[in-house]
Amino acid sequence: MTKKYTDFSWDFREANTKTFTHCFHAYPAMMIPQVAERILTKYGQNAKLLFDPYCGTGTSLVEANLKGIDAIGTDLNPLARLISKTKTTKIKLQVLDLYLKDFSDYIFSLLFYLKKINVVIPEIKNMDYWFDKTVKEKLSIIKSFIEKIEDENVANFFKVAFSETIRESSFTRNSEFKLFRMTSEQMQKFNPDVFGIMQSKLARNHKGLKSFLEQKPKGKSIVYDFNTSLEIKHIQKESIDIVVTSPPYGDSRTTVAYGQFSRFANEWLGVDNANQIDNNLMGGKTQKEVYRFSNKLLDSSLEKIGTVESKRARDVSAFYHDYQSSIDNISCIIKPGGYVCYVVGNRKVKGVILPMDEITKTFFENQGFTHMETIVRNIPNKRMPSKNSPSNVAGEKDETMSNEFIVVMRKKSLTL
Ligand SMILES: C[S@@+](CC[C@H](N)C(=O)[O-])C[C@H]1O[C@@H](n2cnc3c(N)ncnc32)[C@H](O)[C@@H]1O
Repeated sequence: MTKKYTDFSWDFREANTKTFTHCFHAYPAMMIPQVAERILTKYGQNAKLLFDPYCGTGTSLVEANLKGIDAIGTDLNPLARLISKTKTTKIKLQVLDLYLKDFSDYIFSLLFYLKKINVVIPEIKNMDYWFDKTVKEKLSIIKSFIEKIEDENVANFFKVAFSETIRESSFTRNSEFKLFRMTSEQMQKFNPDVFGIMQSKLARNHKGLKSFLEQKPKGKSIVYDFNTSLEIKHIQKESIDIVVTSPPYGDSRTTVAYGQFSRFANEWLGVDNANQIDNNLMGGKTQKEVYRFSNKLLDSSLEKIGTVESKRARDVSAFYHDYQSSIDNISCIIKPGGYVCYVVGNRKVKGVILPMDEITKTFFENQGFTHMETIVRNIPNKRMPSKNSPSNVAGEKDETMSNEFIVVMRKKSLTL
Protein backbone atom coordinates (compact mmCIF):
# COMPACT_ATOMS: atom_id res chain seq x y z
CA MET A 1 0.00 0.00 0.00
CA THR A 2 1.27 3.52 -0.83
CA LYS A 3 1.73 5.31 2.42
CA LYS A 4 1.81 8.80 0.90
CA TYR A 5 -1.18 9.74 -1.21
CA THR A 6 -3.35 12.68 -2.21
CA ASP A 7 -6.94 12.54 -1.01
CA PHE A 8 -9.22 15.37 -2.16
CA SER A 9 -11.84 14.45 0.42
CA TRP A 10 -9.51 16.02 3.02
CA ASP A 11 -9.73 19.42 1.28
CA PHE A 12 -13.09 20.33 2.85
CA ARG A 13 -13.45 22.95 0.16
CA GLU A 14 -16.97 24.11 1.05
CA ALA A 15 -16.81 23.42 4.77
CA ASN A 16 -17.71 26.02 7.36
CA THR A 17 -14.50 26.32 9.38
CA LYS A 18 -16.00 28.74 11.90
CA THR A 19 -18.39 26.49 13.76
CA PHE A 20 -18.63 26.46 17.58
CA THR A 21 -15.88 28.44 19.29
CA HIS A 22 -13.72 28.14 16.16
CA CYS A 23 -15.24 31.49 15.16
CA PHE A 24 -13.60 33.35 18.06
CA HIS A 25 -10.46 34.84 16.55
CA ALA A 26 -8.48 34.76 13.31
CA TYR A 27 -4.86 33.59 13.53
CA PRO A 28 -2.20 32.81 10.95
CA ALA A 29 -1.96 29.26 9.65
CA MET A 30 -4.91 27.92 11.62
CA MET A 31 -5.69 24.26 11.32
CA ILE A 32 -9.19 23.68 10.04
CA PRO A 33 -11.45 21.90 12.54
CA GLN A 34 -12.56 19.35 9.94
CA VAL A 35 -9.00 18.03 9.64
CA ALA A 36 -8.59 17.72 13.42
CA GLU A 37 -12.02 16.07 13.69
CA ARG A 38 -11.30 13.53 10.98
CA ILE A 39 -7.88 12.66 12.37
CA LEU A 40 -9.46 12.07 15.77
CA THR A 41 -12.20 9.91 14.26
CA LYS A 42 -9.59 7.82 12.48
CA TYR A 43 -6.86 7.58 15.11
CA GLY A 44 -8.36 8.80 18.38
CA GLN A 45 -11.17 6.27 18.93
CA ASN A 46 -9.74 5.10 22.25
CA ALA A 47 -7.91 8.29 23.14
CA LYS A 48 -8.38 9.88 26.55
CA LEU A 49 -5.66 12.53 26.43
CA LEU A 50 -4.52 14.68 23.50
CA PHE A 51 -1.52 16.99 23.39
CA ASP A 52 -0.94 19.87 20.99
CA PRO A 53 2.66 21.11 21.40
CA TYR A 54 2.12 24.29 19.30
CA CYS A 55 -1.57 24.77 19.95
CA GLY A 56 -2.07 28.29 18.55
CA THR A 57 -5.76 29.10 18.95
CA GLY A 58 -6.58 25.58 20.09
CA THR A 59 -8.37 24.06 17.10
CA SER A 60 -7.40 20.51 18.05
CA LEU A 61 -8.19 21.10 21.74
CA VAL A 62 -11.74 22.19 20.91
CA GLU A 63 -12.29 19.17 18.65
CA ALA A 64 -10.84 16.80 21.26
CA ASN A 65 -13.11 18.21 23.99
CA LEU A 66 -16.16 17.86 21.73
CA LYS A 67 -15.30 14.16 21.42
CA GLY A 68 -14.95 13.76 25.18
CA ILE A 69 -11.13 13.70 25.05
CA ASP A 70 -9.19 15.79 27.58
CA ALA A 71 -6.55 17.99 26.01
CA ILE A 72 -3.33 19.77 26.89
CA GLY A 73 -1.90 22.53 24.74
CA THR A 74 1.12 24.76 24.95
CA ASP A 75 2.14 27.86 23.05
CA LEU A 76 4.73 30.56 23.61
CA ASN A 77 2.47 33.32 22.33
CA PRO A 78 0.32 34.73 25.17
CA LEU A 79 -2.43 35.77 22.75
CA ALA A 80 -2.66 32.22 21.37
CA ARG A 81 -2.94 30.89 24.93
CA LEU A 82 -5.68 33.36 25.78
CA ILE A 83 -7.67 32.36 22.70
CA SER A 84 -7.25 28.61 23.10
CA LYS A 85 -8.07 28.75 26.79
CA THR A 86 -11.20 30.81 26.16
CA LYS A 87 -12.36 28.63 23.28
CA THR A 88 -12.28 25.55 25.51
CA THR A 89 -13.74 27.06 28.69
CA LYS A 90 -17.34 26.30 29.57
CA ILE A 91 -18.21 29.88 30.45
CA LYS A 92 -21.48 30.27 32.34
CA LEU A 93 -23.87 31.93 29.91
CA GLN A 94 -26.05 33.45 32.63
CA VAL A 95 -23.03 35.30 34.06
CA LEU A 96 -21.70 36.26 30.64
CA ASP A 97 -25.08 37.62 29.56
CA LEU A 98 -25.21 39.97 32.56
CA TYR A 99 -21.81 41.43 31.68
CA LEU A 100 -22.76 41.73 28.00
CA LYS A 101 -25.85 43.70 28.94
CA ASP A 102 -23.78 45.91 31.27
CA PHE A 103 -21.30 46.55 28.49
CA SER A 104 -24.01 47.43 26.02
CA ASP A 105 -25.64 49.85 28.48
CA TYR A 106 -22.27 51.39 29.32
CA ILE A 107 -21.39 51.99 25.66
CA PHE A 108 -24.85 53.39 24.98
CA SER A 109 -24.46 55.91 27.80
CA LEU A 110 -20.91 56.79 26.71
CA LEU A 111 -21.86 57.60 23.16
CA PHE A 112 -23.50 60.71 24.56
CA TYR A 113 -20.85 61.67 27.12
CA LEU A 114 -17.60 60.49 25.52
CA LYS A 115 -15.82 63.82 25.76
CA LYS A 116 -16.48 64.14 29.49
CA ILE A 117 -14.95 60.76 30.37
CA ASN A 118 -11.49 60.65 31.92
CA VAL A 119 -9.71 57.84 30.11
CA VAL A 120 -6.33 56.41 31.04
CA ILE A 121 -4.47 55.60 27.84
CA PRO A 122 -2.02 52.72 28.32
CA GLU A 123 1.66 53.12 27.41
CA ILE A 124 2.11 51.39 24.10
CA LYS A 125 5.11 51.63 21.82
CA ASN A 126 4.46 53.84 18.80
CA MET A 127 0.85 54.27 19.87
CA ASP A 128 0.21 57.34 17.71
CA TYR A 129 1.79 55.73 14.67
CA TRP A 130 -0.74 52.88 14.76
CA PHE A 131 -3.85 54.38 16.39
CA ASP A 132 -5.90 57.47 15.75
CA LYS A 133 -6.60 59.67 18.80
CA THR A 134 -10.32 58.81 19.11
CA VAL A 135 -9.63 55.14 18.44
CA LYS A 136 -7.11 54.89 21.27
CA GLU A 137 -9.52 56.63 23.63
CA LYS A 138 -12.33 54.25 22.77
CA LEU A 139 -10.04 51.23 23.08
CA SER A 140 -8.91 52.49 26.48
CA ILE A 141 -12.53 52.76 27.59
CA ILE A 142 -13.14 49.14 26.61
CA LYS A 143 -9.92 48.08 28.35
CA SER A 144 -10.96 49.75 31.61
CA PHE A 145 -14.38 48.04 31.42
CA ILE A 146 -12.69 44.65 30.99
CA GLU A 147 -10.37 45.31 33.93
CA LYS A 148 -13.38 45.63 36.20
CA ILE A 149 -14.84 42.23 35.25
CA GLU A 150 -14.44 39.97 38.27
CA ASP A 151 -15.15 36.64 36.62
CA GLU A 152 -11.87 35.57 34.97
CA ASN A 153 -13.51 33.46 32.27
CA VAL A 154 -15.85 36.27 31.28
CA ALA A 155 -12.95 38.74 31.27
CA ASN A 156 -11.06 36.41 28.91
CA PHE A 157 -14.10 36.22 26.65
CA PHE A 158 -14.11 40.03 26.42
CA LYS A 159 -10.32 40.13 25.88
CA VAL A 160 -10.57 37.84 22.87
CA ALA A 161 -13.15 40.11 21.24
CA PHE A 162 -11.08 43.14 22.27
CA SER A 163 -7.98 41.71 20.59
CA GLU A 164 -9.65 41.57 17.17
CA THR A 165 -11.19 44.99 17.76
CA ILE A 166 -7.74 46.48 18.42
CA ARG A 167 -6.31 45.09 15.21
CA GLU A 168 -9.28 46.08 13.09
CA SER A 169 -9.31 49.65 14.38
CA SER A 170 -5.56 50.20 14.03
CA PHE A 171 -3.84 51.60 10.95
CA THR A 172 -2.45 48.18 10.07
CA ARG A 173 -3.42 46.63 6.75
CA ASN A 174 -5.67 43.87 7.89
CA SER A 175 -4.96 41.54 4.98
CA GLU A 176 -1.34 41.12 6.10
CA PHE A 177 0.04 39.08 9.01
CA LYS A 178 2.96 41.37 9.54
CA LEU A 179 2.37 44.95 10.62
CA PHE A 180 2.25 47.23 7.61
CA ARG A 181 0.69 50.66 7.93
CA MET A 182 -2.02 51.86 5.57
CA THR A 183 -1.14 54.55 3.05
CA SER A 184 -1.82 58.13 4.21
CA GLU A 185 -4.75 58.27 1.81
CA GLN A 186 -6.26 55.12 3.36
CA MET A 187 -5.60 56.49 6.85
CA GLN A 188 -7.44 59.71 6.14
CA LYS A 189 -10.54 57.81 5.07
CA PHE A 190 -10.28 55.32 7.92
CA ASN A 191 -12.90 55.88 10.59
CA PRO A 192 -13.57 52.62 12.40
CA ASP A 193 -16.60 52.20 14.63
CA VAL A 194 -14.59 50.83 17.57
CA PHE A 195 -17.54 50.11 19.88
CA GLY A 196 -19.54 48.66 16.98
CA ILE A 197 -16.69 46.29 16.07
CA MET A 198 -16.38 45.15 19.69
CA GLN A 199 -20.13 44.57 19.98
CA SER A 200 -20.26 42.54 16.80
CA LYS A 201 -17.28 40.35 17.87
CA LEU A 202 -18.94 39.76 21.24
CA ALA A 203 -22.23 38.80 19.57
CA ARG A 204 -20.54 36.44 17.08
CA ASN A 205 -18.48 34.76 19.79
CA HIS A 206 -21.49 34.45 22.09
CA LYS A 207 -23.29 32.54 19.35
CA GLY A 208 -20.27 30.28 18.87
CA LEU A 209 -19.92 29.64 22.59
CA LYS A 210 -23.62 28.82 22.89
CA SER A 211 -23.45 26.22 20.15
CA PHE A 212 -20.25 24.77 21.68
CA LEU A 213 -21.98 24.43 25.07
CA GLU A 214 -25.08 22.90 23.46
CA GLN A 215 -22.85 20.00 22.34
CA LYS A 216 -22.16 19.34 26.04
CA PRO A 217 -18.44 18.79 25.49
CA LYS A 218 -17.21 16.27 28.03
CA GLY A 219 -13.49 16.88 27.61
CA LYS A 220 -11.50 19.55 29.43
CA SER A 221 -8.43 21.49 28.31
CA ILE A 222 -5.39 22.96 30.00
CA VAL A 223 -3.14 25.42 28.21
CA TYR A 224 0.50 25.89 29.25
CA ASP A 225 3.29 28.21 28.16
CA PHE A 226 6.36 25.99 27.94
CA ASN A 227 8.75 25.85 25.02
CA THR A 228 8.55 22.35 23.55
CA SER A 229 12.04 22.69 22.06
CA LEU A 230 13.52 23.08 25.55
CA GLU A 231 11.40 20.91 27.80
CA ILE A 232 8.02 19.37 28.46
CA LYS A 233 6.56 20.48 31.76
CA HIS A 234 3.56 19.19 33.73
CA ILE A 235 3.01 16.12 31.51
CA GLN A 236 3.97 12.62 32.64
CA LYS A 237 6.08 10.30 30.52
CA GLU A 238 4.11 7.96 28.25
CA SER A 239 0.77 9.52 29.20
CA ILE A 240 -0.41 10.99 25.89
CA ASP A 241 -2.63 8.93 23.57
CA ILE A 242 -2.52 11.23 20.58
CA VAL A 243 -0.88 14.41 19.31
CA VAL A 244 -2.78 16.45 16.73
CA THR A 245 -0.91 19.57 15.77
CA SER A 246 0.27 21.97 13.10
CA PRO A 247 3.80 23.17 13.87
CA PRO A 248 5.41 26.29 12.42
CA TYR A 249 7.15 25.56 9.11
CA GLY A 250 10.00 27.99 9.54
CA ASP A 251 11.21 30.79 11.77
CA SER A 252 8.96 33.79 12.32
CA ARG A 253 11.24 36.29 10.57
CA THR A 254 11.01 34.67 7.17
CA THR A 255 7.73 32.73 7.39
CA VAL A 256 4.71 33.43 9.59
CA ALA A 257 5.29 36.12 12.22
CA TYR A 258 2.92 34.90 14.95
CA GLY A 259 4.32 37.38 17.47
CA GLN A 260 4.06 40.34 15.14
CA PHE A 261 0.51 39.39 14.19
CA SER A 262 -0.39 39.38 17.91
CA ARG A 263 1.71 42.35 19.03
CA PHE A 264 -1.00 44.99 19.47
CA ALA A 265 -3.29 42.68 21.41
CA ASN A 266 -0.45 41.45 23.62
CA GLU A 267 0.65 45.03 24.31
CA TRP A 268 -2.85 46.31 25.07
CA LEU A 269 -3.39 43.31 27.35
CA GLY A 270 -0.25 44.11 29.31
CA VAL A 271 2.23 41.47 28.05
CA ASP A 272 5.84 42.60 28.64
CA ASN A 273 8.23 42.57 25.67
CA ALA A 274 5.44 41.72 23.25
CA ASN A 275 7.68 42.70 20.35
CA GLN A 276 10.21 39.99 21.33
CA ILE A 277 7.90 36.98 21.04
CA ASP A 278 9.00 35.97 17.54
CA ASN A 279 12.62 35.66 18.72
CA ASN A 280 11.60 33.03 21.24
CA LEU A 281 9.64 30.87 18.81
CA MET A 282 11.15 27.95 16.95
CA GLY A 283 14.21 29.00 14.96
CA GLY A 284 14.00 32.52 16.39
CA LYS A 285 17.62 32.67 17.48
CA THR A 286 20.31 33.13 14.85
CA GLN A 287 23.12 30.56 15.09
CA LYS A 288 26.79 30.75 14.19
CA GLU A 289 26.94 27.39 12.43
CA VAL A 290 24.91 25.16 10.15
CA TYR A 291 23.84 22.07 12.10
CA ARG A 292 24.02 18.55 10.65
CA PHE A 293 21.07 16.23 11.16
CA SER A 294 22.01 12.74 9.90
CA ASN A 295 19.03 13.24 7.63
CA LYS A 296 20.17 13.09 4.00
CA LEU A 297 17.31 15.16 2.63
CA LEU A 298 17.72 17.95 5.13
CA ASP A 299 21.52 17.98 5.09
CA SER A 300 21.66 18.17 1.30
CA SER A 301 19.00 20.91 1.20
CA LEU A 302 21.00 22.93 3.74
CA GLU A 303 24.16 22.44 1.72
CA LYS A 304 22.43 23.74 -1.43
CA ILE A 305 21.04 26.77 0.41
CA GLY A 306 24.48 27.41 1.91
CA THR A 307 26.07 27.66 -1.53
CA VAL A 308 23.70 30.57 -2.30
CA GLU A 309 23.71 32.31 1.08
CA SER A 310 25.31 30.94 4.22
CA LYS A 311 23.23 33.05 6.62
CA ARG A 312 20.02 31.57 5.24
CA ALA A 313 21.42 28.07 5.68
CA ARG A 314 22.24 28.90 9.32
CA ASP A 315 18.75 30.29 9.94
CA VAL A 316 17.03 27.30 8.39
CA SER A 317 19.21 24.84 10.27
CA ALA A 318 18.51 26.72 13.55
CA PHE A 319 14.80 26.14 12.94
CA TYR A 320 15.24 22.41 12.30
CA HIS A 321 17.53 22.10 15.29
CA ASP A 322 14.72 23.42 17.53
CA TYR A 323 12.15 21.35 15.66
CA GLN A 324 14.14 18.15 16.20
CA SER A 325 14.60 18.87 19.94
CA SER A 326 10.91 19.51 20.20
CA ILE A 327 10.11 16.16 18.55
CA ASP A 328 12.60 14.36 20.81
CA ASN A 329 10.93 15.88 23.89
CA ILE A 330 7.41 15.10 22.67
CA SER A 331 8.30 11.49 21.86
CA CYS A 332 8.95 10.75 25.55
CA ILE A 333 5.41 11.62 26.66
CA ILE A 334 3.59 9.50 24.05
CA LYS A 335 2.19 6.18 25.22
CA PRO A 336 3.55 3.08 23.50
CA GLY A 337 1.12 2.47 20.63
CA GLY A 338 0.06 6.15 20.69
CA TYR A 339 -0.22 8.33 17.58
CA VAL A 340 1.26 11.62 16.49
CA CYS A 341 -0.42 13.48 13.63
CA TYR A 342 1.50 16.47 12.28
CA VAL A 343 -0.13 18.73 9.72
CA VAL A 344 2.82 20.33 7.96
CA GLY A 345 3.62 22.46 4.93
CA ASN A 346 6.71 22.37 2.76
CA ARG A 347 8.81 25.42 2.18
CA LYS A 348 11.17 26.70 -0.49
CA VAL A 349 14.28 28.69 0.45
CA LYS A 350 16.57 30.03 -2.27
CA GLY A 351 14.82 27.72 -4.72
CA VAL A 352 15.47 24.63 -2.55
CA ILE A 353 12.45 22.68 -1.32
CA LEU A 354 12.49 21.69 2.35
CA PRO A 355 10.25 18.62 2.56
CA MET A 356 8.83 19.13 6.02
CA ASP A 357 6.73 15.95 5.82
CA GLU A 358 9.72 13.72 5.11
CA ILE A 359 11.83 15.50 7.70
CA THR A 360 9.08 15.12 10.33
CA LYS A 361 8.76 11.45 9.47
CA THR A 362 12.48 10.72 9.89
CA PHE A 363 12.77 12.76 13.10
CA PHE A 364 10.03 10.59 14.62
CA GLU A 365 11.47 7.37 13.15
CA ASN A 366 14.70 8.19 14.99
CA GLN A 367 12.62 8.15 18.18
CA GLY A 368 11.18 4.69 17.55
CA PHE A 369 7.99 5.63 15.72
CA THR A 370 6.58 3.86 12.66
CA HIS A 371 5.19 5.76 9.71
CA MET A 372 1.48 4.97 9.25
CA GLU A 373 0.62 7.28 6.34
CA THR A 374 0.99 10.76 4.88
CA ILE A 375 -2.16 12.29 3.43
CA VAL A 376 -1.65 15.16 1.00
CA ARG A 377 -4.44 17.73 1.00
CA ASN A 378 -5.05 21.03 -0.76
CA ILE A 379 -5.48 24.09 1.44
CA PRO A 380 -8.28 26.25 0.11
CA ASN A 381 -9.07 27.87 3.48
CA LYS A 382 -5.97 28.22 5.58
CA ARG A 383 -5.06 31.80 6.34
CA MET A 384 -1.43 32.04 5.32
CA PRO A 385 0.68 33.60 2.63
CA SER A 386 0.19 31.58 -0.55
CA LYS A 387 3.03 33.48 -2.14
CA ASN A 388 6.35 34.42 -0.69
CA SER A 389 9.59 35.76 -1.96
CA PRO A 390 11.87 32.70 -1.92
CA SER A 391 14.94 34.70 -2.78
CA ASN A 392 13.90 37.64 -0.61
CA VAL A 393 14.08 39.79 -3.74
CA ALA A 394 11.19 42.24 -3.80
CA GLY A 395 8.77 41.38 -6.55
CA GLU A 396 10.12 37.87 -7.05
CA LYS A 397 7.27 35.65 -5.94
CA ASP A 398 6.72 31.94 -5.82
CA GLU A 399 3.71 29.76 -5.04
CA THR A 400 4.15 27.89 -1.78
CA MET A 401 1.94 26.00 0.62
CA SER A 402 -0.89 25.26 -1.77
CA ASN A 403 -1.03 21.85 -0.18
CA GLU A 404 -0.13 20.34 3.13
CA PHE A 405 0.74 16.94 4.52
CA ILE A 406 -0.87 15.06 7.36
CA VAL A 407 1.94 12.88 8.66
CA VAL A 408 0.75 10.07 10.93
CA MET A 409 3.29 8.18 13.04
CA ARG A 410 2.79 5.52 15.72
CA LYS A 411 5.01 4.85 18.70
CA LYS A 412 6.11 1.23 18.83
CA SER A 413 4.68 -0.84 21.62
CA LEU A 414 5.85 -4.26 22.84
CA THR A 415 2.94 -5.95 21.06
CA LEU A 416 3.34 -4.06 17.75
C1 LIG B 1 0.76 26.87 12.90
S1 LIG B 1 0.54 27.68 14.42
C2 LIG B 1 -0.66 26.65 15.23
C3 LIG B 1 -2.05 26.97 14.77
C4 LIG B 1 -3.11 26.13 15.47
N1 LIG B 1 -3.10 24.77 15.04
C5 LIG B 1 -4.47 26.76 15.25
O1 LIG B 1 -5.35 26.12 14.67
O2 LIG B 1 -4.67 27.91 15.66
C6 LIG B 1 2.04 27.32 15.28
C7 LIG B 1 2.13 27.85 16.71
O3 LIG B 1 3.38 27.40 17.27
C8 LIG B 1 3.76 28.32 18.28
N2 LIG B 1 5.18 28.04 18.59
C9 LIG B 1 6.27 28.30 17.83
N3 LIG B 1 7.38 27.84 18.43
C10 LIG B 1 6.99 27.25 19.59
C11 LIG B 1 7.67 26.55 20.64
N4 LIG B 1 8.99 26.39 20.59
N5 LIG B 1 6.96 26.06 21.67
C12 LIG B 1 5.60 26.23 21.72
N6 LIG B 1 4.91 26.87 20.75
C13 LIG B 1 5.58 27.37 19.71
C14 LIG B 1 3.46 29.68 17.63
O4 LIG B 1 3.31 30.68 18.61
C15 LIG B 1 2.15 29.37 16.88
O5 LIG B 1 1.03 29.77 17.63
